[in-house]
Amino acid sequence: MHPVARDAMARLRNEYTLAPEFRRQLHRLSLLLANRATLELPTTSCDVSTPLASTKCQAMDDLYALVPVMRAGNGMLDAFLTFLPNALVWHLSMSRMHEDPFDPILTDSKVPDAIPGSVHTCFVLDPMLATAGSACFTVQHLKDRGAKRIVFVGVLGCTQGIARLQSEHPDVDIVIGAVDPRLNEMAYIVPGLGDAGDRLYPTQ
Ligand code: PRP
Ligand code: URA
Repeated sequence: MHPVARDAMARLRNEYTLAPEFRRQLHRLSLLLANRATLELPTTSCDVSTPLASTKCQAMDDLYALVPVMRAGNGMLDAFLTFLPNALVWHLSMSRMHEDPFDPILTDSKVPDAIPGSVHTCFVLDPMLATAGSACFTVQHLKDRGAKRIVFVGVLGCTQGIARLQSEHPDVDIVIGAVDPRLNEMAYIVPGLGDAGDRLYPTQ
């Protein structure tokens, strides 16, 4: 792991890190994740005139979509928009039931009913991959609407959640900051960092 990512992760995990600092560290780590998630994106050759001469350059002309899963995915969005400023943004919210089987219910989706064929990749942004219920639901929601390529980007995953996402959607690339060993009985990642949404956006 990049040393800056290790440092950001330590601060995010620390129970004494308060919301303003938590938001800063999530942004800092998300910049590194955005770098990793976009490394292989295609560029095409173009001619550019500098003030002095004309030269060959490489530019990105594909269209991308960012899909932040509310609430916590919102904390990763600005970093990804720094990398892909022209990306479309499709917010998606769901409510995770804290009871068996922890499956999410969709509460709002700004994903278009038919995703344009011109969208090269959809990046799902959600810091936490626990049971993978939310991730699998989001990926299926995008596939049902025609997404061609999907990359899931998270800060922390657990072994079982990653295995479930890989087995249900083997075609989805996963970019994740760190992997923890287990879930507790409430489906929280252990050691994890707690409830990412609450730590980002305290309500009281
Ligand atoms: C968290 C997290 C994921 C989900 C992961 O959201 O941001 O969306 O849980 O858990 P899963 O892998 O078991 O589905 P939460 O439902 O706590 O909502 P919040 O972001 O509003 O706190
Ligand atoms: N969602 C979180 O925010 N944290 C966890 O540990 C699991 C799900």
